[in-house]
Amino acid sequence: MHVGKRGAFIVFEGCDRSGKTTQSRHLSSVLTSKGVDIKQINFPDRTTTIGGMINAYLTNTQDLKDEVIHLLFSANRWECVDSIKKDLLAGTTVICDRYSYSGAAYSAAKGVDFDWCCAPDRGLLEPDAVFYLKANLDELTSRGSYGEERYEKLDFQRKVGEQFDRLYAQRSSYWHLLDASKSLQELQDQIAAVADGVLQQAAEQPLSTIK
Ligand code: TMP
Repeated sequence: MHVGKRGAFIVFEGCDRSGKTTQSRHLSSVLTSKGVDIKQINFPDRTTTIGGMINAYLTNTQDLKDEVIHLLFSANRWECVDSIKKDLLAGTTVICDRYSYSGAAYSAAKGVDFDWCCAPDRGLLEPDAVFYLKANLDELTSRGSYGEERYEKLDFQRKVGEQFDRLYAQRSSYWHLLDASKSLQELQDQIAAVADGVLQQAAEQPLSTIK
């Protein structure tokens, strides 16, 4: 049995082009330079068979019913749950670019029932912290390559933003709201300051699951 301290499970969420990928990678490198064992992952994981189906949908080469793609996104997380758990218990901190909340926000934004959207992810590991990069949508459209994939449309992203706000309101104890229009440096500093405390707290707490 592993007797050391577990790693923290840290998730970045937000609309497309809100800076999640940049900030999650930066946090990974900051923590790595401090000697923390880090694994960086992202959802959807397009490398699996299910991920390939998701990629075909996102790049508009295949159409699927809203409920079907929703369940595929969830299955794509379920197929990784054991490896995330193993890493965390081995003391590795897992930094994840999008997770369950993107699943609920994007499908609910299409009009799929919110509770139905949350149900398939019950039982997945719950993050110790979620950094929610809340964006000003008008600013986001000017960021690079916005508009190439299925969901990258301004009206739709507004609806997704409303769903993320709803998720945040229900989970503000471990969600950290960040203003995505701030400078990269300001955001990096804000995230790094919170992350240290998250790692310390997680080390003392058992893993929990999404209820
Ligand atoms: P990405 O740009 O971060 O690779 O994500 C691809 C798209 O998939 C993005 O528009 C958000 C969307 N998405 C969902 O609709 N449901 C999910 O469960 C996840 C993880 C992403």
